Amino acid sequence: MCGIVGYVGARQAQDVVVDGLRRLEYRGYDSAGIALVADGRMASDKPAGKLANLEKALEESPLPPSHTGIGHTRWATHGAPNDANAHPHLGGGKRLAIVHNGIIENFAELRTELETAGHTLLSETDTEVAAHLVERELDGGADLTTAMQAVCRRLAGAFTLVAVDARAPDLVVAARRNSPLVVGLGEGENFLGSDVAAFIEYTREALELGQDQVVTISRDEVTVTGFDGVPAEGTQYHVDWDLSAAEKDGHDWFMRKEIHEQPSAVADSLLGRRAADGQLQLDEVRLSDQDLREIDKVIIIACGTSFYAGLVAKYAIEHWTRMPCEVELSSEFRYRDPILTQSTLVVAISQSGETADTLQAIRHARVQRSKVLAICNTNGSTIPRESDAVIYTHAGPEIGVASTKGFLTQLVACYLLGLYLAQIKGTRFGDEINEVMDQLDQIPDQIQSVLDREEEIYAIAGQQVGAKSVLFLGRHAGYPVALEGALKLKELAYIHAEGFAAGELKHGPIALIEEGLPVLCVVPPRGRDQLHAKMLSGIQEVRARGAHTICLAEENDDTITPYADVLIRLPQVPTLLQPLVATVPLQLFACELATQMGHDVDQPRNLAKSVTVE
Ligand code: M6R
Repeated sequence: MCGIVGYVGARQAQDVVVDGLRRLEYRGYDSAGIALVADGRMASDKPAGKLANLEKALEESPLPPSHTGIGHTRWATHGAPNDANAHPHLGGGKRLAIVHNGIIENFAELRTELETAGHTLLSETDTEVAAHLVERELDGGADLTTAMQAVCRRLAGAFTLVAVDARAPDLVVAARRNSPLVVGLGEGENFLGSDVAAFIEYTREALELGQDQVVTISRDEVTVTGFDGVPAEGTQYHVDWDLSAAEKDGHDWFMRKEIHEQPSAVADSLLGRRAADGQLQLDEVRLSDQDLREIDKVIIIACGTSFYAGLVAKYAIEHWTRMPCEVELSSEFRYRDPILTQSTLVVAISQSGETADTLQAIRHARVQRSKVLAICNTNGSTIPRESDAVIYTHAGPEIGVASTKGFLTQLVACYLLGLYLAQIKGTRFGDEINEVMDQLDQIPDQIQSVLDREEEIYAIAGQQVGAKSVLFLGRHAGYPVALEGALKLKELAYIHAEGFAAGELKHGPIALIEEGLPVLCVVPPRGRDQLHAKMLSGIQEVRARGAHTICLAEENDDTITPYADVLIRLPQVPTLLQPLVATVPLQLFACELATQMGHDVDQPRNLAKSVTVE
């Protein structure tokens, strides 16, 4: 949601800011804008629509050269996505420009206060209120840093704010509370971004900021304070990927590239997890063995695709550890007064590490003194920082809005966690754990074998252009795969899609079946005879009522042939690990169908990559 860029240095600020906004496009937005400080004045432009509109506007009416600027891509919260509501917003005297991500919850009362004092606000946004408040502080004699601190102390809600003052041509000042912001550290130049993608082209050295902090950047200096003005320090880190990871590398979409990166993403996420003595090791898990031995319940919290990874994890964790494992949507979790104790392990799964619902849920869990372990793909993000422990997935940057390699690597992390808990609690023998690890080690090649047949899946997808509705069926660990397949199709192709547990069919969903309705069926491996047989009956039942069955079944499974209108073959893997291979054809299917329907696969309508407001 909302992308933010700030720059001060020797380069042309407009180029750096527009490049940064382009790299943040994946976050989802509906308008883009820029403000530059030039010759003691503020120059800005902010047309509604895609970045191309801004670039066109800048070509037609160029802004003056400048070395200090800010930019923004806006995902509308307060007010429609039009020019007036786009960022940056200026103070009444046009001295101050500000961009904002988040929601200022007390903006209505602050707006009334300003209007009563004679200010005229031009937009419906909460952000413009901040612009007027900061400018009022400046007019009262404060410098930009002090003005920002003073205003932040008055704001409620979640926000990243980045501001420039026409009378301070070499400074950009930013603040954050519950919303992402990273500093990029350059030589004679410094950067700000919602995430490192904004400045990865120029530097891989970054500074992570804490909660309620203000940062002031100039060409040669970066200073951090609290909202109270007390000096503070950020945490410096090196970004372990480079610009090439943020490029499409010959693919039409980032999503397609990321689907193809899954063999290496899974392999990287498994790397170094076995010690020389064969024991499983999770270096980043900062909880002691004793802490983990005392755990008697696991609660997984997550949103969207990450939630579905949690649903798969439940099957694995309960099976291997014999401990109860609940899975809950972060947005529901803290509003239902969950039973949490010191011996509950709360596992927060988040690719971005910034999802507001999940962040609030872990805060709630920690207040109840439960231990929180994050499974996250983004170094330096808020969720791992606020957790007791973390398992990082090694997917590299995920730019497509639809999560793909993020999901598969989350599954790997969940399996590792389940096995690790089993090792520590002694609920599985070492050789059983080793056997699963050996099976996991084969998964990258097995994913590749699915990818090698992508053309078959694209042809199957092409036949569904024009479908009004698509159903997905699965059982056991295949049920979350069905949910994930349906989510991919909804978000990319805008087709009505539902995932069901096949056993539930007769309890209602079967009424939806009509002649020709496409139903994708995730068939469990034959090793689990009962599951497999039950799934086959479900497929026969929908086919008997006219459904067009597209079945995903393992290589040697001939029992499915009579009931499948179309067959997609999967490599042979154990039931619990099957989601790692069965999800891939569904990703390819959704990506291709959306492409053939002419949709923007990387930036589907109405969606943001990381949902930083509740
Ligand atoms: O960054 P997170 O994993 O916390 O994000 C959670 C969801 O917003 C995310 O998985 C979303 O559902 C994706 N667009 C699905 O493809």
